[in-house]
Amino acid sequence: MIVHTMQSRLAGAKAEAFFGFMINPTPEVYAKWLPEEHYEFHLIKKGKDEPVGNLFYFDQNIGKKFRMKFCATIVVAEQPEKIVFQMRKFGINLPGFLELEFEDTQGGLALTERIRIGFRGVGRVFDPFIRIIYSERFFKEMDAHHEREWVSLAECLAWEVPRTYKIREITPADYPQLEDFLYHAIFIPEGEEYPAREIIFQPEIYVYIKEFGGKDDCGVVAEIEGRIVGAAWTRIIPAYGNIDESTPELAISVLPEFRGREIGTDLMNDLFELLRKRGYARTSLSVQQNNPAARLYRRLGYVITDEKKDHAGHDDYIMVKDL
Ligand SMILES: CC(C)(COP(=O)(O)OP(=O)(O)OC[C@H]1O[C@@H](n2cnc3c(N)ncnc32)[C@H](O)[C@@H]1OP(=O)(O)O)[C@@H](O)C(=O)NCCC(=O)NCCS
Repeated sequence: MIVHTMQSRLAGAKAEAFFGFMINPTPEVYAKWLPEEHYEFHLIKKGKDEPVGNLFYFDQNIGKKFRMKFCATIVVAEQPEKIVFQMRKFGINLPGFLELEFEDTQGGLALTERIRIGFRGVGRVFDPFIRIIYSERFFKEMDAHHEREWVSLAECLAWEVPRTYKIREITPADYPQLEDFLYHAIFIPEGEEYPAREIIFQPEIYVYIKEFGGKDDCGVVAEIEGRIVGAAWTRIIPAYGNIDESTPELAISVLPEFRGREIGTDLMNDLFELLRKRGYARTSLSVQQNNPAARLYRRLGYVITDEKKDHAGHDDYIMVKDL
């Protein structure tokens, strides 16, 4: 029998959530879980001792070279600390097991993943044949896959935890944090490296937050459990997206791990409300043409009024919204 054990510790993750997902994988979470390597993991048939007996279909790449497609039945389920899947092909149970152990510890979730393939005792004569498929190379790829997949699941599940965020007006105590949000407001196309943080001190960038708190400065922040995770603010300053002396220009960012959950949409809608109350008629912005955020702005009522190049040579849209 070939046994291969992998272990991880995942800060912030919980055994209950991992156990729950692995016995009942929801398509919404699965879709976000390492999509470049994971193709399918879903329940095909319930067993009568659910979750024991539940039959799943798996299809995933392990690294670039190995694609694993198989069915597996849960043969052990001890909530929340242990699940054992047994591989099944052509309706026959195979001597292949995937064991998952979850333990909540002070340093996070201790996860053990163990693959057992083959037979005990005399059955070991089959080991060399099994090694043809489950080679050293396979287990090396498996180790790397293990590292990627469980960290990713921890992120996906954290995402799913129903978290309430509140949007409130920015206060002077929050101003120092605008440096972080200015940095995160810089659009980095996929695959490009993040610039050094000092980039924000370039005058044409820093102008968005320099001495923030003046008469035309407005802002809102999104807060989760006391932590600011997003900010949207406007100023009337001689910056890229300025169109005149009476139209505030918007800047916005949400921390990377909180994007795509409509926090940006809510921040902007609340900011528009604040701007209306303060008597502004319009608001403008500049956005790189290849930034997906341009779609969000269009959805929120901005229209393109001009096209320009910014200081770094990027093609930008100037967009304006009537309030
Ligand atoms: C733009 C941004 C503030 C939106 O906040 P959000 O909470 O992710 O937004 P929502 O969930 O309300 O809306 C999702 C929309 O944001 C945009 N978006 C999502 N992820 C994005 C990303 N990584 N970068 C830029 N825009 C993104 C898309 O338009 C997306 O809608 P769509 O793909 O369905 O068209 C946020 O994604 C961000 O901080 N991006 C990086 C910084 C940036 O580009 N700032 C704007 C400079 S002009």
